[in-house]
Amino acid sequence: MDTLDASQSGTFKIGGEIAIHRLGFGAMRITRDGIWGEPRDRAEVIRTLKRLPEIGVNFVDTADSYGPDVSENLIREALHPYKGMLVATKAGLERPGPNNWVPNGRPDYLVRELHKSLKQLGVEQIGLWQLHRIDPGVPSKEQFEAIRSLLQQGLIRHAGLSEVSVAEIEAASRIFKVATVQNRYNLVDRGSEAVLDYCEKHNIGFIPWFPLAAGDLTKPGSLLNDLAAKHRATPSQIALAWVLKRSSVLLPIPGTSKVKHLEENVAAASITLSDDEFVALDQAGKKQAEH
Ligand SMILES: NC(=O)c1ccc[n+]([C@@H]2O[C@H](COP(=O)([O-])OP(=O)(O)OC[C@H]3O[C@@H](n4cnc5c(N)ncnc54)[C@H](OP(=O)(O)O)[C@@H]3O)[C@@H](O)[C@H]2O)c1
Repeated sequence: MDTLDASQSGTFKIGGEIAIHRLGFGAMRITRDGIWGEPRDRAEVIRTLKRLPEIGVNFVDTADSYGPDVSENLIREALHPYKGMLVATKAGLERPGPNNWVPNGRPDYLVRELHKSLKQLGVEQIGLWQLHRIDPGVPSKEQFEAIRSLLQQGLIRHAGLSEVSVAEIEAASRIFKVATVQNRYNLVDRGSEAVLDYCEKHNIGFIPWFPLAAGDLTKPGSLLNDLAAKHRATPSQIALAWVLKRSSVLLPIPGTSKVKHLEENVAAASITLSDDEFVALDQAGKKQAEH
């Protein structure tokens, strides 16, 4: 458990062509509370971002709305020109204030935000751009057609969706090639099992957000705690190792603003759970998810 190398999590090809190490980094937490404004400890955030390529993390997930704009700008400052890294971003949520997220899927808004992300990240093409939410107030076909147009213009290379059902992935797939899906998923939050199965079948990357959550399974005397002690790891690391073993299309993006936590999360890539341990955790997680 002392190797620090995200490549140990394995490789996945986004859209069948951009190879990334499966254990990535979520850049939502590098802003201040409420995902609003500049971080409290800016120097530590820059150190955290600069540490990513040193320990093999080459997949970063952000959004125009994180901060807003703060996360993309910090990523550019720390990591541009992103040698060998894929920085994925999203649009489709407006930010009237801290902890406030309002869907906006109007094509003109999505196009405007995409151009802002290109500028903020300092690139001519976004390798992976995701629709943050399908806006219920705009026909989904219009939103998907806007994405197809961005792909056709070469402004984005691959496109994904977030918080979607199988039916929505299928509807979008009729208009553009869905490369990734980003839904909440972890050991104790299994509402997207059907979406995960679909992604496996169609080789779509599934980016599970909130991957460290383990709920009551972290209580003293729990199975997760016992396994953590056995592997000389933390319960969060075991929860992450479980996600990595669950499916080869899962691309977890734990988020943190601190080097110490980043290193702890990346160390989970070198934990190998046995099949029996995996199954026992799987069952305990499902049971917890039902409560
Ligand atoms: N598509 C969507 O709708 C959506 C929604 C939410 C998130 N996301 C994406 O998913 C990423 C991950 O989701 P998330 O941030 O909600 O969940 P997460 O990564 O599971 O958890 C992050 C929280 O855990 C803390 N943390 C991280 N590593 C830790 C460690 N080793 N020890 C102790 N605490 C630790 C972080 O605080 P510290 O800074 O103190 O470490 C932060 O408060 C986000 O960054 C974002 O890119 C997407």
